[in-house]
Amino acid sequence: MDSRLLEALAKHGALADQAAMEYLSTARDPVAALETVFSRLSVAPLVLTLEDIRAVEPAPAPPSTAIRQAGDLARRAAGAARPSPPKMRGLDRASDVAEDFRLVRDITGHSTCEGTLEDFSRYFANRLQSLTRLLRTRRELVGAVDIETAKKLTREVRFIGMVSEIRTSRKGDRVVEVEDGTDSAPVFISQDSPLFKETVLEDEVIGVVGKPTEKGLVIAQDIVRPDVPSGHPFPGAKDGVSVAFVSDVHVGSKTFLREPWEKFTAWLGSDDEVARSVRYLVLAGDVADGIGVYPRQEEELALDDIFEQYEELARLLAPTPDRVKVILLPGNHDAVRPAEPQPALPQSVQKLFDSSVTFVGNPSAFTLHGVRILAYHGRSMDDFVSNVPGLTYAKPLDAMREMLKRRHLAPIYGGKTPIAPEAEDHLVIDEVPDIFVTGHVHSVGLDEYRGVRIVNASAWQSQTTYQKMRNIEPKPARVPIVNLGSGRGMIKEF
Ligand SMILES: [Fe+2]
Repeated sequence: MDSRLLEALAKHGALADQAAMEYLSTARDPVAALETVFSRLSVAPLVLTLEDIRAVEPAPAPPSTAIRQAGDLARRAAGAARPSPPKMRGLDRASDVAEDFRLVRDITGHSTCEGTLEDFSRYFANRLQSLTRLLRTRRELVGAVDIETAKKLTREVRFIGMVSEIRTSRKGDRVVEVEDGTDSAPVFISQDSPLFKETVLEDEVIGVVGKPTEKGLVIAQDIVRPDVPSGHPFPGAKDGVSVAFVSDVHVGSKTFLREPWEKFTAWLGSDDEVARSVRYLVLAGDVADGIGVYPRQEEELALDDIFEQYEELARLLAPTPDRVKVILLPGNHDAVRPAEPQPALPQSVQKLFDSSVTFVGNPSAFTLHGVRILAYHGRSMDDFVSNVPGLTYAKPLDAMREMLKRRHLAPIYGGKTPIAPEAEDHLVIDEVPDIFVTGHVHSVGLDEYRGVRIVNASAWQSQTTYQKMRNIEPKPARVPIVNLGSGRGMIKEF
């Protein structure tokens, strides 16, 4: 082990795992290499990993794939003009590429909860534990202690806990009650503090840096979130195939947009260069309009039988070329339990579709050619929009950034998102995805957050009575497409 390297790490108050040490040791000047890494990291980790190093290394030359469109994500991320990669050639490029789909995380077949009180306390304990593990890697929380210990100290303290209550004091300051299983502490956020504009949500897990007072309060100096390490690298699959994201088809509704949908499936089978690269189609939930989802829904249904709705969806997917594998997850309108995580649609529905469709749960994590995708219908956006000032239905990507910051898809319990208390919290974003997709809000968007491609997958329904009432203007019939080789994306309108 290089002692100079260890000394240099100690200077940064950091450790490195074995892979990172081995990697740095191969550099001509390991200490200089380490300094370069630290100078590029926006937040220095407690334990430097090989992933951290790779994240800040200059990107390798882009692979030869082709989505050269406006909204060139990789180029924007690099902040500089890069030459366009060569065009993809060959009529059947995507169909020449063998399927590479691996399911990584999905509740389907693993649900254990019965909704008892014990289930709930186990669920929240697992949430606290999973997110504490992520927060412990944050440099700002080095030396974090449990809350029971923190309350006895008079110096600056650091601790991690779940927000159990948020109060406003008579003077207008905020008091956030944080608990960790050993004790709970009231964390005081002065309205004069820059932290005051940060929205803290009930049931989220946060790190606190603060100073205890004699009155038993902890004056907050910093609120730390697990977040995504900056510059998460896109893995760049060697097969330059693409994935198209659609959502909220709402088959069975009178407002389903048949004509643009048929244009879309016909386009997939066309000679268009981008269409030919599409090997996967992710359907991010609310694929059918369902029955009895909201009061007087029957007045807005063209098909009032749930099986007929799915049969119709199978017919609508039939013109999709054989090379396209469909990955389908449910949403809050679909025929499965509404509580999240939702398992895949039942066998009785699955048997209506051919083998090109794979059914997964909501949320689910899977890889396509090694690119990790987190697919979540997005019900919790209702809770984000009503609890975080500045978030709107028109800008779903902002709510998705909030989820990534908190490494949780639905932190608020008891709002509009029903949550099933499973033994393991499947709504924790344990691994950083390369692509994160949602639907639900009938908007559309494609951007990047710290290297993660974030996608909101539009809808195939025109404005509904409910949306009209709430002044929500949908952006239907748009398809975000991301190339798994280059990580570049585009939105195609139909
Ligand atoms: Fe939905």
